[in-house]
Amino acid sequence: MEITPKKFPYDMSAISKDQFDSHIKLYNGYVDKVNEITKDLFDLTPPFQANATYSKYRGLKKGETYALDGVILHEAYFSNMTSAKTSPDECLHRVFDQCFGGYEGWVNDFASCAAAARGWCVFCYDQRTRSFRNILMDSHDDGMTCLAYPIIVLDMYEHAYFIDYKTDKAEYIKRFIDGICWRAAGKRLNKLGRETSIA
Ligand SMILES: [Fe+2]
Repeated sequence: MEITPKKFPYDMSAISKDQFDSHIKLYNGYVDKVNEITKDLFDLTPPFQANATYSKYRGLKKGETYALDGVILHEAYFSNMTSAKTSPDECLHRVFDQCFGGYEGWVNDFASCAAAARGWCVFCYDQRTRSFRNILMDSHDDGMTCLAYPIIVLDMYEHAYFIDYKTDKAEYIKRFIDGICWRAAGKRLNKLGRETSIA
């Protein structure tokens, strides 16, 4: 099934319009690649001659998860930033208290996780342990655990901040946290089926 790129208004304080526009082009490229890979997989005729060292099938399957995660993570990232001043709701504050010793504890851990990441920093609910974690991803397909549900997503690739911040990652992380759309985070939390399990 073909997917189409979502439209995101420029409404965020953490990055400039110039930075945003160049990033949206990359996002659109991931959408195109998902569609290209999906079509190429559909068009393959058996036997697929799959091989773990090298094969066309392996290349397509590796590209499939990389590109699809690229789409999913960017959509979460663009929609959890805002120019409005918002703050965590009561439910999120309870989460921060229980899992991080309070909001400041969460900020410290999230900012450290972001500084250490080469790809993404994702605040997640882990359905297996029924706890919240900040997860480090070095690329779209490296780092996320199964059953983790993203609540806040931060892109730490250089392409996400270099136009605005050059090498000043710490300032980008600070401005991102200041500009989190807590309404979006609260909505994601409310949608979450916390008892969900596959075993
Ligand atoms: Fe990105």
